[in-house]
Parts: sequence; structure tokens; C-alpha cells
Amino acid sequence: MEKASFALKGTICYAKTMGELETLDQGYVVCREGICEGAYPVLPKEYEGLPVIDYKNMLIIPGLVDLHIHAPQYPSQGLGLDLELLDWLKAHTFPEESRYGDMEYAKKAYRIFAQDLKNSATTRAVIFSTIHTDAAKFLMEALNDAGLVAFVGKVNMDQNCDDRLKEDTDASIEATVSWLDETLGKYETVRPILTPRFAPSCSEALLEGLGGLQKKYKIPVQSHLSENLSEISWVKELFPWSSCYGDVYERFGLFGGEAKTVMAHCVYSSKEEVARIKQNGVYVAHCPQSNMNLASGIAPIRKYLEEGIAVGLGTDVAGGASMSMFRCMIDAICVSKLYWRLLDQSKKPLTMEEAFYLATKGGGAFFGKVGSFEKGYEMDALVLDDGKMNGVRKLDAKQRLERYFYLAEEKGRIAAKYVGGADIWN
Ligand code: GUN
Ligand code: FE
Repeated sequence: MEKASFALKGTICYAKTMGELETLDQGYVVCREGICEGAYPVLPKEYEGLPVIDYKNMLIIPGLVDLHIHAPQYPSQGLGLDLELLDWLKAHTFPEESRYGDMEYAKKAYRIFAQDLKNSATTRAVIFSTIHTDAAKFLMEALNDAGLVAFVGKVNMDQNCDDRLKEDTDASIEATVSWLDETLGKYETVRPILTPRFAPSCSEALLEGLGGLQKKYKIPVQSHLSENLSEISWVKELFPWSSCYGDVYERFGLFGGEAKTVMAHCVYSSKEEVARIKQNGVYVAHCPQSNMNLASGIAPIRKYLEEGIAVGLGTDVAGGASMSMFRCMIDAICVSKLYWRLLDQSKKPLTMEEAFYLATKGGGAFFGKVGSFEKGYEMDALVLDDGKMNGVRKLDAKQRLERYFYLAEEKGRIAAKYVGGADIWN
């Protein structure tokens, strides 16, 4: 990836702290060899030699980070969303994922996924594949070729799933080891992540094996947590010794601490689970559209923010139908309003600035210094053309940004997309 040096000029918007928006009309964001040198109202003298790319009146924001998405479920986008989680997995998701043993199908589907993700607002993503290692490697390659930054997980599961996807425990660990040996350090922008699907479909022996791999390879972990009420009761039956759902992962070293971990959903995390999430520095991937589609519930994100828990946003395709992170931000705001109105009036709805923070710096933190235009951050940027949006009244930068988020799919146009300082759009 070319790590260029340049300055972008336009209407700069980014979030430094939760809830506050920094804006600069006709400002500059400076990038030196892929790293942001800061945002300025006037180009500082020391950068005057750099090429300036003038995007005129367009909005320039940090890239958006999708903390939870299932690449193999992309062909099921918008299909079969009339069931709750466990029935949905059985009826739609496992059958679709079982196709990825066929490399012809996998290649076709993953090429489309990588291309569409490249053409979206997402610059970085944390991604599930399936149990199939050859297909997972192809996906990693396709994302790397697209210039996107990603963690990709080969899924592990050895019980309570479709027979076509059920792995032998030892074979699952062995396949994961050879996949790790082959992919660690191989790609410029894509890295492997350990991916026990969720506690119900993993035996204790499998979780123990994966915990061992985490220690050995020191790689991050992703899974699902406390998404649905039937799922939570099932975890209690399957792991009667556990004090909460998260305890199952923690017992095997797959829940934060030394193991950087992101858990999707956390809709019904108990008090103890919340305390452990916080203590262990586990990231919560909030997936509002999926939680609506599968009638899972509403995650108490305001509570997590008050607790100081690290939160980002996820589309959870295909539980979520849309891979748009703009839509994801708006869904997060909307469900937080329902939570406040219907469930707990002490938990204020998320503001637009807060949702923007979650989609940029919040999720970006999982990747390091990502999601801001502060000095030292990796240079991921989107240039947004809102020229097709109603221009009768003059709006300020914040208003234009808010409108863009709401109308992105209808009237928005991405004019450029930079990842780690490389323009992957033009
Ligand atoms: N829990 C276990 N697997 C899945 C999945 O594929 N999607 C969602 N939303 N939840 C899960
Ligand atoms: Fe998911």
C-alpha cells in the first residue's frame, strides 16, 4: 500500500472526545507517510511543500469502522429476517455458510463482498468467515487486494450446529493452527483473529484449545455475547458452572485482559458480566439493526458508556441487512431513543456526535490509533459529497454531517476514500 504524503482540503469533521465534534470550514488534514499530522484551519508552514488535494466544499471525515460483520452471510442480505436468533441460524445462516466448502461459490461470493465493502464507507472491519480455511484465506486475500484493513476469523464450532458445519474438536484446532501459521504476517492490511462462533456451538475442549492458541500466538478474539434471551438460557444449561455468559469465554482465556477481545451485541449482559467486560477491557460491538431484525432487544449503550466500557458499532450483516455504517449510526441513535422512551428514562438517547464517535474513534481503537484526525492517527478518511442534498438553506458543518448520515443511501456520494494514507477509491 502506498503511504503517501499530502494534505486534504475541505470541510473537516472529526470527533476527539465522546460527544464533541471538531469542525473546520476550508480546513486541512495533513498526512505524512500514512500517518495523520493533524487538522488545521490554515496549512502550517512546515507542510507547504506537500501536494494539496482540494475537495472544495465537500465533507472530510475519518473512515468508519465496522466492528462486527459476517462476510459469508452477505448473499443472504435482506433475506429471512422473520425469525429470532436460534431459529434464524438453523433456517438461514448455517445452510448459507455450509456452501463455503465449495471454493467456486466462496470465491464468487467473497469477491462481491470485498468489492462492495471497498465501495462502502467502511475503511476497517472485524469479520467472521466460516469454518472453511481455504475460503477464509481467499477472503483475506481479497480484502488485502482491496486495500481495506481487517481482522478476519476462521470460525470454530464443534457442537450444536448444522452437521455440515460441525468440526471435530482436534481437527478444528489443527486447522486453526495451520491457518494461523499461513496467514500471520502474510498480508499487508489483513490479520487473523480467533473466532469461536458463540459459546453454545463450542465444547469446553474446543474453547480450551483456542485459549491455548491465543496465549501462544497472542492474537485477538471475537465472538457473540448475550444477544438473545433463549441463547442466554441455553448457555446456562450447557455450562452450568458459569456465573454469566461471558464467564464461559473468560474461563478459557478468551475474554479480554491479555487477549484483545470484541464481543458482539451484549443486549442482556448481567451486572456481573458488565463488570467483567469493563475490568477486562472487552470491546462491545453494538449492532442495532441486527438486534431489531432478529427481535433480540436493545443494548443499553448509554449504560456502557457511563461505565467507561469501550464501544464500537457493527452492521452484523446478515443479521443486519445493510453494510452501511451511516445507517448503523442512525440505527444506534434510533434504538437508543426507544430504549430511553420505553425502558429507562435515566438513559439519555445517543446524540449524533456520540454515534459518530462510536463509528470512528470508538471502534477504531480496536485497531490502534485509528478513527481521528489527531496527530499520530493512521490516515483513514472519507470525502463526502452532499451536493445532491437540498441546498436551499445554508447549513453549518455539523448540520451537513448529520444530514449526510441520515440521507447517505438516498443522496450521498463518496468522492474519495483513504485507508492508511492510500487512496483506494480513485
Ligand atoms: N450468534 C451465533 N452466530 C451468530 C450469527 O451468525 N449472527 C448473529 N447475529 N448472532 C450469532
Ligand atoms: Fe454476528
